[in-house]
Amino acid sequence: MAGFTFTKEDSHTGSLILVSPGFSLMKIPDESRMAPAVPDQPGVLMDTTAGLHLTELLNHIRSGRKITAVSGFRTQEEQEQIWNDSLRENGLEFTRQYVAVPGHSEHQTGLAIDLGENKEPVDFIRPAFPRSGICEQFRQEAPKFGFIERYRKGKEPVTGISEEPWHFRYVGYPHSAIMAERNLTLEEYISFLKSTTDQERPFYYNCGAKEMMIFYVPVDERADIKLPKGMTCRFSGTNEGGVVVTAEHNRQNGDGEQR
Ligand code: DAL
Ligand code: ZN
Repeated sequence: MAGFTFTKEDSHTGSLILVSPGFSLMKIPDESRMAPAVPDQPGVLMDTTAGLHLTELLNHIRSGRKITAVSGFRTQEEQEQIWNDSLRENGLEFTRQYVAVPGHSEHQTGLAIDLGENKEPVDFIRPAFPRSGICEQFRQEAPKFGFIERYRKGKEPVTGISEEPWHFRYVGYPHSAIMAERNLTLEEYISFLKSTTDQERPFYYNCGAKEMMIFYVPVDERADIKLPKGMTCRFSGTNEGGVVVTAEHNRQNGDGEQR
């Protein structure tokens, strides 16, 4: 067996971190991890891994120049500027609906991207990203590439943000696919894993030939887990008190029990 230790700090980083009205960004991401979200728009940055998957997705649907990246990674100062500008121009009610309070924006993680249909004028806060044509094709294919539509209609009481058809969040595959299949927001997905899984009771998900096992580990000050040696696994903090373990399940290694 191989041992892994998770610290509080580990619980604040990774593709599944929840940054929302209720949970502020606890660890500012390293700006050296940011790169142009798409190759031909050097002014819009994103986490390198998320950007690579975004580019793959746009190539997959052959979007050409029909989709434009409007806003990606933002610093605290940039989020403050957007909040203050919107407050002045649009008032408090609108701003609360469509701009996250500085320190609570997913854009500050580098994992979120606002996309617009590339038709002038493109609104910076609420770009048009219709539920038809190439934009809808993007939306449908997004979960296969690790992205979710983050602020959906009907989920406002859960997310605390109004419907934003243009805002996509990288959470990584297969989490994106599970959330889409089960119609879960990131908040709901983390609650689901937290309340139904642990190392002895993982959630199993078939990804083609592979079977993945996913489970939640609460991290107070630190948490220790053991996994079969050589098992391919990834970890992400949730930013709300835990870490999610995603591992390749291989019964031949003796790591699978009867379910
Ligand atoms: N528009 C989203 C909520 C943000 O500002 O992060
Ligand atoms: Zn956004």
